[in-house]
Amino acid sequence: MRGGRESGNPADDQWSSRIGLTVNGGGHDLTLDNRTTLLDALRERLGLTGSKKGCDHGQCGSCTVLLDGRRVKSCLILAVTLDGREVTTVEGLAGPDGLSPLQAAFVAHDAFQCGYCTPGQLCSARGMLDEVTRDWPSAVTGDLDGPVELTDAEVRERMSGNLCRCAAYPNIVTAIRAAAAAR
Ligand code: FES
Ligand code: FES
Repeated sequence: MRGGRESGNPADDQWSSRIGLTVNGGGHDLTLDNRTTLLDALRERLGLTGSKKGCDHGQCGSCTVLLDGRRVKSCLILAVTLDGREVTTVEGLAGPDGLSPLQAAFVAHDAFQCGYCTPGQLCSARGMLDEVTRDWPSAVTGDLDGPVELTDAEVRERMSGNLCRCAAYPNIVTAIRAAAAAR
């Protein structure tokens, strides 16, 4: 990260930084106010409005993205701390052939209503399934040493940071388990 910039206005220098960020496979060189969150950088600077701002306080999960493959709440992270890092948003989940299996499962199992929480649900589920593949335990995992069995309780616990105001929870759980079974 390079602090300050040749903005022409010395007063700006201490308040902005320049970073390089890879988003959905593409490189971006950004000069940002040091107070800019990753969520605002994605939405306001890069035009990636899939990630949603719900609470802006880390409580709803609608802003969830993947940072170097791990799920994070983008409203809680200052973008200037991410120089050289890799971000995947909901816009980057689909492959060249169309929807990812997880996205297709959300459609097939009617796992949304208004859709506001869905980008965060999808990114969180993607990260969560990778955590399960690594056998990382959750608070409801019985055997901390054995392979994790992706039960409904496991899905609910692991997705508990993603709220859905439409209460599509039963179908979200079904969709995630279906996508996991098809892996
Ligand atoms: S907007 Fe980030 S957790 Fe709610
Ligand atoms: S589908 Fe409406 S908030 Fe989840």
